[in-house]
Parts: sequence; structure tokens; C-alpha cells
Amino acid sequence: MKIILIGFMGAGKSSTAKMLGHLLRMPIIEMDDLVLQKTHARNMHEVFSRGGELLLRENEIAIAQEYASTDNHIVSTGAGVVLNKIVLDYLKMPSGKTIFLNASFQTIAERLVGDTERPLFQNIPEAKSLYHFRLPLYMKYADHIVEVDNKSVEEIAHEIAKTT
Ligand code: S3P
Repeated sequence: MKIILIGFMGAGKSSTAKMLGHLLRMPIIEMDDLVLQKTHARNMHEVFSRGGELLLRENEIAIAQEYASTDNHIVSTGAGVVLNKIVLDYLKMPSGKTIFLNASFQTIAERLVGDTERPLFQNIPEAKSLYHFRLPLYMKYADHIVEVDNKSVEEIAHEIAKTT
């Protein structure tokens, strides 16, 4: 079974994936890292400046397709994978379960204030409207929803482990 973590930037997908990998002794696929490897970019800003958001999305589709037959992994996705249903369709093969890490915008904004890594989190009003635009998509694609506000990474990982 593949465990696919989805959710907005700053929801804790990467740290939860690490903890879950440790708990369940399963390897992790970190999609953002694979995008950087594939595009030979040092960071997401370089990806965006070279090919715009489209370059990121094309690579996300290609990576998901490559891992479609890989089972027993934890996948930490980039927050925008819900924009292309095909990414989730591929990731859910051969047997995958999506877990939506649901953080309030307040929690996210507190965590990401001053973040310079994320091209799509450059200012609060724009990030907030992106958050509200995407929220129904995370809900739609979630097999399971975990509320993450005021919980530690350990608590969240244990909660997910129980559902598997
Ligand atoms: C993005 C989220 C980022 C990364 C890229 C675009 C998005 O991943 O894929 O900067 O579209 O929200 P994280 O969710 O790991 O921050």
C-alpha cells in the first residue's frame, strides 16, 4: 500500500512522511526533490524561472507515472498535485491511499512567514486565496483527512499509522 500525503504548503507533509517512514519502516518518495533532480534545478525558484509553473506540473505528472507500479512507499507530494487529477490517479496505483493533512490557514501562515523557498507563497493575500481555491480539491481527493492544527508530528504520524 502506498500512503500519499496531500495538503497545502506548510501542512507538514515532509516531516510527517519522515516520521511515518520511521514508524512503518517504509521508504519515502519526496516529490519536490525528484522534480529538482529531474530538472537539474537547485530550488523551486529556478524551476519556475526556467519553465514556469508548467515545468513543475509536467514533471509531477512524469514522476507520478514512473512510480505508478511502486508499492509500499510513503509519498510526500508537492501541494499542487491536486491540480492534475492524473498525478493522483498514477500515485494511487497499484494500491494507494491519500491522506489529507488539513491545517488552517492561520497555522500555515505562522509556519511559512518569512519562507523564501516557495514561489507560490510570496505574500499572504495571494497564498490565502490559493489555499481557499485548493481546499475543496484536497477534500475531494482525500481518502482520509487528518486535522493537524496543534498536533505534533508524532501524533499525526501515529494517527495515520492507525488508519493503514
Ligand atoms: C507548490 C508547493 C511546493 C512545491 C512548489 C509548488 C504548490 O511544495 O511543489 O513550490 O503548488 O503549492 P510543498 O507543498 O512541499 O511546499
